[in-house]
Amino acid sequence: MAKPVLISGIQPTGRLHIGNYLGALKQFIELQNSGKYQCYFFIADYHSLTNYSDEIGQYSLNLVVDYLASGLDAKKSTIFMQSSVPFSTELAWIFNTLTPLGDLYRMTQFKDKSSQKNSQNAGLLTYPTLMAADILLYDPKFVPVGEDQLQHLELTREIARKFNKKFGKTFIEPEAILSKTPRLMSLDDPTKKMSKSLPQGCLFLDDAPEVVKNKVMRAVTDSGSEVRFDESKKPAISNLMLIYGELSGLTNAKVEKKFAGKQYSHFKDDLADLVVSYFEPFNKKKRQLSKKISQVRKQLADGNAVGYKMASAKMAGVKDAIKLLSSK
Ligand code: AMP
Ligand code: TRP
Repeated sequence: MAKPVLISGIQPTGRLHIGNYLGALKQFIELQNSGKYQCYFFIADYHSLTNYSDEIGQYSLNLVVDYLASGLDAKKSTIFMQSSVPFSTELAWIFNTLTPLGDLYRMTQFKDKSSQKNSQNAGLLTYPTLMAADILLYDPKFVPVGEDQLQHLELTREIARKFNKKFGKTFIEPEAILSKTPRLMSLDDPTKKMSKSLPQGCLFLDDAPEVVKNKVMRAVTDSGSEVRFDESKKPAISNLMLIYGELSGLTNAKVEKKFAGKQYSHFKDDLADLVVSYFEPFNKKKRQLSKKISQVRKQLADGNAVGYKMASAKMAGVKDAIKLLSSK
């Protein structure tokens, strides 16, 4: 029997931080390596146009390098650019006509992003219908994402239901897969999500060792001095413990035991060393791949062709279901 399909994407908006890694990328790699799924991972460059940078091309290539350096493998997974599959934007238009404006206005991400500076554009509002198209074109059963994307995924399921009801069964409703750390908090404010828009609170995967050390040592802590996991009373230390636990494979209880009777500074020192050594192979591979960019581009081109083919076939079925003449 064919393996269930799994798909996810990340926007090329700069460097990946440890929230992206622990919330999304780490589980992409584990899911890929389980061998249980047919995996698609893409670069959501069209989504990132909602906050345009003229470095988008470099950021996109960099993200492909990050995917490969962290363990995604073009032989096991299809890695592609969203913008090389025009069917996403085509299908997003159709989904726009099925989606009430109210559903889009109530999205938390829309509210956050559209309230920032002078960044209002219609793409921020229709962002979730493009995301629904990205997903539903590939008939996935699973979508691994961080917690901030759950609302978009729920809307995706609703769009699939609506389309099926109106035009006949065409899409399956995919389920989210969350990691153990679906919402990592900022190092300088444990009440805020770690986010590229607050770079001072991020640990980036390619931060130099001394930068990691500095950021970890400066990270906000809680009152008291005990290294104990308690998200309500000790949110800052608990957040650091989540990072420690995920990178070391130790449970919270084991981490508590290891640092029993020790100061926060001792724990932070150890955490900084752990982060540096954990990402050392990633950074080494990244440097190697950066010297072989034409090979990276070739792998991407191959992935683009596979993505295009899959989506093209699905889109023809969608047009048939709606009775559009263009597919004939
Ligand atoms: P983005 O950079 O917004 O495209 O996010 C890429 C992936 O990382 C998505 O699956 C997000 O849900 C996830 N993500 C982003 N920030 C965090 C965070 N602070 N904690 C956990 N996951 C996150
Ligand atoms: N919206 C996602 C984010 O900000 C990126 C994304 C775009 C995505 N299309 C997707 C994630 C499809 C999963 C599936 O992180």
